[in-house]
Amino acid sequence: MAFPRLSSAASAAARPAPHHVAIVMDGNGRWAHKRLLPRIAGHRQGVESLRRCIRACAERGVKVLTVFAFSSENWNRPEEEVSGLMELMGKALANEVPELHRAGIRMYFVGDRDSLSARMQQSLTQAEAATAANSRMVLNVCFNYGGRWDIAQAAARVAASGQPINEESLGRATALAHVPDPDLLIRTGGEHRISNFLLWQCAYSELYFSDKLWPDFDEAALDEALADYAVRERRFGKTSAQVAQATG
Ligand code: IPE
Ligand code: IPE
Ligand code: MG
Repeated sequence: MAFPRLSSAASAAARPAPHHVAIVMDGNGRWAHKRLLPRIAGHRQGVESLRRCIRACAERGVKVLTVFAFSSENWNRPEEEVSGLMELMGKALANEVPELHRAGIRMYFVGDRDSLSARMQQSLTQAEAATAANSRMVLNVCFNYGGRWDIAQAAARVAASGQPINEESLGRATALAHVPDPDLLIRTGGEHRISNFLLWQCAYSELYFSDKLWPDFDEAALDEALADYAVRERRFGKTSAQVAQATG
């Protein structure tokens, strides 16, 4: 009999996993460029990397995974790339949703749907409905999402309801109000910026930057991020001594 292998999943699971992980999946274009491939080939590989990452997060006990798939600003890319990304999203939905459903994953699409095609809007609604009863892990796919759009739409909704605008009412109207704020925000691809991702929700998230390009971000890279998170001291404005007293 072989010795039981101490997998990286097992060692990461020994530490408390973050409840909510958010990821800026960046670096697909550079991954393709390095291989003399068209950028869309990098995005296709990015879908593979996401599939692997979803499975790995679920195995490690992450309860909510939120990924940035297409930003409000990504419309400014060459038309060919934008249409390629829309097509890829359509295909990924058709191919991946049944498997995600079998894996017990509940899907939400987060972002401005109005400028998406009627067909795409319908696919998103269908995927959400098909997976609505699942409870193993929530997967939020931020698509045509921008942090500023989110805050502005929340403010508009609260104002229209006639409620006072405060942190509670605004927070409840933001697009990720169905989950707690991210504990860990990972950005791959080496850039140290937020790029209009979850501006409201990441107020107290731990930030982790990886130089790996998204298609190369594998289980070992995820485990490094989780291990880094596991030893962070989250103070939420308090002193270190107060935190030690509360947890000790
Ligand atoms: C991230 O990869 C995916 C999307 C923005 C859709 P990029 O396409 O930004 O890859 P780089 O940054 O050009 O390498
Ligand atoms: C952020 O990546 C958006 C997504 C990963 C979907 P970008 O590549 O668009 O960010 P910038 O333009 O480099 O800031
Ligand atoms: Mg990029």
